[in-house]
Amino acid sequence: MPDLDRMGVTAEALAQMAKTPDPRLREIMDAAIRHLHEFAREVELKPDEWLAGIAFLTAVGQACTPFRQEFILLSDVLGLSRLVNVMHDAKGREAAGTETSLLGPFFREKAPEFAAGESIAATDKGGEEIILFGEVTDAEGRAVADAEIDIWQVDATGLYDLQANDAEHMDMRGRYRTDAQGRFHMRTVKPIGYSIPMDGPVGQFVQKQDRHGMRPGHIHILVQAPGYRELVTALYMGDDPNIGSDTVFGVSDSLVVMPRRGQPGAPRADLPAIRYDFRLSRLAAGESGGRVGADPSQMMPAAE
Ligand code: BEZ
Ligand code: FE
Repeated sequence: MPDLDRMGVTAEALAQMAKTPDPRLREIMDAAIRHLHEFAREVELKPDEWLAGIAFLTAVGQACTPFRQEFILLSDVLGLSRLVNVMHDAKGREAAGTETSLLGPFFREKAPEFAAGESIAATDKGGEEIILFGEVTDAEGRAVADAEIDIWQVDATGLYDLQANDAEHMDMRGRYRTDAQGRFHMRTVKPIGYSIPMDGPVGQFVQKQDRHGMRPGHIHILVQAPGYRELVTALYMGDDPNIGSDTVFGVSDSLVVMPRRGQPGAPRADLPAIRYDFRLSRLAAGESGGRVGADPSQMMPAAE
């Protein structure tokens, strides 16, 4: 009989998993068990704390719906999503593309398609109209024609359409395509900063840590073109008071922008504009891509 003392139980759990046929699953679970057990030993985890942790994770799962991914939100506020993003960015890139940022829990597939210059706002809720324009290029600066660019953001009240819990309702999101020279031109409203959803278990947890729960105003962007690594990023408004303390760690300097009038090459002179050029990295041989996030409706268990 093995000696299942505070170290022996770890060795025995690892031994039982050692025959896992999938080598990557074996590697991940071996490290997970070692770190999890070490964590419990380090904090001398007590039974009531262990149970509170399980109750918390249960509540996180129960808060998930086709419109809300509370587990991704948890990963975000722990900095895990940002870490996975940063590691994914650094791996196997033949040349530096645009920095990535979080997909977040409010992405939806199949947003409405728009022609260049059209607005993503389905209804007028106010806010300062701005344009976003620029070029999509490869890492050497060559134009990428017919790239698909998805953008999504909050409306002027600081809410995403998904927060209305209505699958039919899409607003403040859209898909555009680059022209033959790789150029794009979109119209939207300047996004305001907003709070992550605070009415669930993750929000309560953030409050217990005395954190503000705010994200600086931003526009989410997803750029896709055949043969290139998918680019998931966001542009952050430089004048937002929380630009330096994003609660989900999404901001990098290279993604901070300010809409301004009089930008050279702006397709409209009457509106403040953001010019931003996106650079795509080629997919490395055998690379299948990978997105740190998902449409919440696609993460629900299949119906019986
Ligand atoms: C967002 O930007 O939409 C977001 C990202 C992480 C957590 C909550 C919201
Ligand atoms: Fe967002």
